[in-house]
Amino acid sequence: MNDNRVAFIGAGNMARCVIAAMVKAGYPAENIMAANRSQPKLTELAKDYGIATTLDNAAAADWADVIVLAVKPQMMQDVCSALLEQAPQCQDKMFVTLAAGLPVAHYENWLGNIKLVRAMPNTPSLVALGVTGLFPSRCSNYEKAFVDHMFQGTGMTVWLNEEHEINHIIAVTGSSPAYFFYFMQSMQQKAEQLGFSAEQAKAMVAQTALGAATMALQSDLSFAQLRAQVTSKGGTTHEAVSTFANNGLEEMVAKAMQAAIDRAQAMAKSI
Ligand SMILES: NC(=O)c1ccc[n+]([C@@H]2O[C@H](COP(=O)([O-])OP(=O)(O)OC[C@H]3O[C@@H](n4cnc5c(N)ncnc54)[C@H](OP(=O)(O)O)[C@@H]3O)[C@@H](O)[C@H]2O)c1
Repeated sequence: MNDNRVAFIGAGNMARCVIAAMVKAGYPAENIMAANRSQPKLTELAKDYGIATTLDNAAAADWADVIVLAVKPQMMQDVCSALLEQAPQCQDKMFVTLAAGLPVAHYENWLGNIKLVRAMPNTPSLVALGVTGLFPSRCSNYEKAFVDHMFQGTGMTVWLNEEHEINHIIAVTGSSPAYFFYFMQSMQQKAEQLGFSAEQAKAMVAQTALGAATMALQSDLSFAQLRAQVTSKGGTTHEAVSTFANNGLEEMVAKAMQAAIDRAQAMAKSI
């Protein structure tokens, strides 16, 4: 599988994150190329990962077996139209898009009936603990397996059956690192009020979050069962958890996640 040549069009944060994960997972750097409209990020990528780079999107598309579209959504139409004009044979190649909010139908308008996977990674991919939602269109099982292989170094992958589920993945994994940061920030603030230094408070909260997440991943028990295990009636944890419950934590989380889905739907319509 490592024989496929993969070209990234757009060499920003997300492209860098996926390229880093691929190279660290053993994908040959000589089979990866990044194209960007300006030089600085290309120079960094070549230095850090030994990949090929170019300022010419069409040349990268000509070279590649798999083309990863990694520009901002508002740039996507121009980039795709230029590719079709300057490298028309790209239509027969496999595409992966990292862009949020652009449905398959848009790419089909710009590039024809291409083989495409919409990929929605999240930022913990930077530390190989990400979740990437993947939705395939017109892809063979081999092509799906290849894309899965590409993203393995970023963490776990989740294949979606319906395109609208991309918006659900955004609410569950794309936006959610910020939910956890917010919760941890609130805990840190209280820990500091109790007299811990900012550094101590941050480390204690992050370590506890990591410990709890690791326990959950290593256990067959549900979150509710894990919580019950550490909550004895009348104890301190029970008191704290009841305070969350009585103040509507579950409803608030559900509302926040629905707000993310609604926003993703509205953004998709506006592009
Ligand atoms: N960041 C995230 O957490 C995240 C998560 C999931 C999905 N995504 C998606 O990933 C995509 C990229 O996001 P990002 O955060 O990586 O953005 P970014 O850091 O701004 O990267 C975009 C890159 O595209 C380059 N570019 C713009 N127009 C170009 C063109 N015509 N030809 C070649 N390169 C061009 C830019 O070049 P310059 O260096 O000249 O500006 C920049 O390096 C977006 O579609 C976004 O929706 C991002």
